[in-house]
Amino acid sequence: MSASFSHKLPGEHVYDGSLFFGFSPPDTLDAVKDFEVRDDDIFIVTYPKAGTTWMQELVWLVMNDGNIEAAKQKPVYFRSAFLEFKDEILNEIGIELANPMPSPRVLKSHLQVKWMPRQIHQKNCKIVVMFRNPKDLCVSYYHFYKSSSSLGNFTGDWPEFLRMFLCGHVDHGSWFDFTRRGGNMRNNYNVKIVFFEFFLRSLSKPPPKYIGFAFLNKSLSLDVVDRITRHCSFESMRRNPMTNHDDVYSINADISPLLRKGTVGDWKNYFTVNQNEDFDRIYQERLGDIDIPFVYQL
Ligand code: A3P
Repeated sequence: MSASFSHKLPGEHVYDGSLFFGFSPPDTLDAVKDFEVRDDDIFIVTYPKAGTTWMQELVWLVMNDGNIEAAKQKPVYFRSAFLEFKDEILNEIGIELANPMPSPRVLKSHLQVKWMPRQIHQKNCKIVVMFRNPKDLCVSYYHFYKSSSSLGNFTGDWPEFLRMFLCGHVDHGSWFDFTRRGGNMRNNYNVKIVFFEFFLRSLSKPPPKYIGFAFLNKSLSLDVVDRITRHCSFESMRRNPMTNHDDVYSINADISPLLRKGTVGDWKNYFTVNQNEDFDRIYQERLGDIDIPFVYQL
């Protein structure tokens, strides 16, 4: 798998056949499987760059009745633990953050279901799987690979990154494997699949359709929904030091901030006609048999 690529992730290792960076070391991945789940936990499960931070902030606010003052007290990554992450410099060790957190916890993971805590299958927890069209996601990941020292500040070019992505030679492994496993969960009663593009559209058209977020058993007033919506707009989250990650030592915002563009269709500025055709063909081969309604432009 690694033979034809020169880029190395810091501390990279292969776990159960998939590539991971050193910030998800094997012992942490093992420990996540034994993580104690609570009935009222909410897991935000995404492939990297699908809009994870956005959904964490949104769900955290919905679960906390739109308490924006509280959200301004702590970065989102300390309010919503990233389970399989271990960064001793930032003192962000996902499991240790999550264990003492008050309920309801909003937990983040980029793991495929097979690596998630075993107890998700026994408890009444809720799982929000957020999908984003893979072309925009891949472009977003490319920029993050460049700006993030935890991903080794990639210095290669777009065609090389696209090849890495298509081969699954990226942190957290293949997007196609993640998506197949996530897509297969869509009929589980405790799983809600949401789409980046849907949120982008619905948040810009009041009243937003996520109103009340029935899946989370929350019913919020229009006024609270309006406040959450404004707080979670791209511009607002981009300005907000509690969500923009500008303070995170490993992300060089001068190369590319975490909240980079927040749009649908940026992929057209990167994919050549041939790359696009190859991508579509590989998509058909890998996922053509499951129906996931990705949206590539609004
Ligand atoms: P772009 O790089 O395309 O801008 P993650 O949180 O999973 O790492 O995803 C990051 C991507 O989500 C980035 O995409 C970022 O801009 C986008 N994003 C984050 N918050 C957003 C928001 N409030 N509205 C729209 N996009 C958002």
